[in-house]
Amino acid sequence: RPGAQEWVPDTGGIGELREAVQGCRGCELWRDATQAVFGEGGEGARIMLVGEQPGDKEDRAGEPFIGPAGRILDQALEAAGIDRSEVYVTNAVKHFRFEERGKRRIHRRPDVGHIEACGPWLDAELDRVDASVLVCLGATAGRAVLGRPVKISAERGVVQAFGRRSVTVTVHPSAILRIRERDPREFAFEEFVRDLGVARDAVR
Ligand code: URA
Ligand code: SF4
Repeated sequence: RPGAQEWVPDTGGIGELREAVQGCRGCELWRDATQAVFGEGGEGARIMLVGEQPGDKEDRAGEPFIGPAGRILDQALEAAGIDRSEVYVTNAVKHFRFEERGKRRIHRRPDVGHIEACGPWLDAELDRVDASVLVCLGATAGRAVLGRPVKISAERGVVQAFGRRSVTVTVHPSAILRIRERDPREFAFEEFVRDLGVARDAVR
């Protein structure tokens, strides 16, 4: 795979990057997706949240975390006392990867090759957004940010030094949605809120 580097502008801000990403051909995922979904938030955001890839709703709307996972994320941010305006929200991979089953589009996890191909866009966001804390939502984000395999259960909720920034990893909000029984789901939500609180307290 060629990777995204040749499509990433060297100059300009998040707005320029968001325009340029629509032309990216750094891997094959652009072919079936509706559009690329770039990160959202101010360049002065103190916290950057990194998800996996856009879902079905995000692919259609062009905005990150507006579907069911986004609803959980919003609730958890509020419970953790984090204002959505303080955060920059993005994904490790900018195009939706899916499988068609009848009329439904079923999410497929990106491969390491997709994460690596799309890495230059995340690097460019890290370059433009001045956040002091990065929060990886799930293993794909952990892999993308830290550049190594990450086991969420072993590393969640602690602050790791990462250059001049801090990194924390936690679960992906979709993992909470997949829990069928109410009590375990609520417990998982509370743990997620606690991890976001760790990130909030690490902001400089
Ligand atoms: N899941 C993600 O990881 N990102 C989104 O934007 C939506 C769902
Ligand atoms: Fe480019 Fe990333 Fe989309 Fe692949 S997923 S085409 S690297 S923006």
